Amino acid sequence: MTLRGQTYRADAMWVFGYGSLIWRPSFPFVERREGYIQGWGRWFYQGSTDHRGVPGAPGRVVTLLPDADTSCWGAAYRVSPADSERVLAELDHREQGGYDRHTVRVITREDEPLDALMYLATPENSSYLGRASDLEIARQIFAAHGPSGSNSEYLLELERALSSMGVRDPHVSALADLVRTLQSERD
Ligand code: SIN
Repeated sequence: MTLRGQTYRADAMWVFGYGSLIWRPSFPFVERREGYIQGWGRWFYQGSTDHRGVPGAPGRVVTLLPDADTSCWGAAYRVSPADSERVLAELDHREQGGYDRHTVRVITREDEPLDALMYLATPENSSYLGRASDLEIARQIFAAHGPSGSNSEYLLELERALSSMGVRDPHVSALADLVRTLQSERD
């Protein structure tokens, strides 16, 4: 269900992050729970011209595609009712480059379900780049920079954050390995 533009009313608002929201939430929260969502795979298929790239030279950031056999680990944050409107406004602004709010069921590491909202960029948005070979994606990430910093930082911080959670995402790890190789060839 798309929720952008609507007011999210709940006693406990949870936000699920699977990309930069794992390692740089940048909003106040009262609780953080690691967990996964079932039926989604994480891919560097979303173009970024406002954070990790610029118009004409987009970077690549993660979005999710439905995949019944896959689960995607991330972090869920509980936001206090007093902060929820402001946090939503900030997140809508931060994720404006093609992402919309959706609701999702998160299963926490403690095996407890909770309903959260997440930001999802579907293939219909105008910044969507879609599938490419790992090497093409890694080269694009290696080259891209934007107002929020280098695209390589985004990828490597995501890999580091997942690793600190004991999670290995094969797509993320393969790209991180390729970007490290590109870095060592340059240096
Ligand atoms: C997310 O982190 O959940 C959304 C994608 C991003 O901002 O990197």
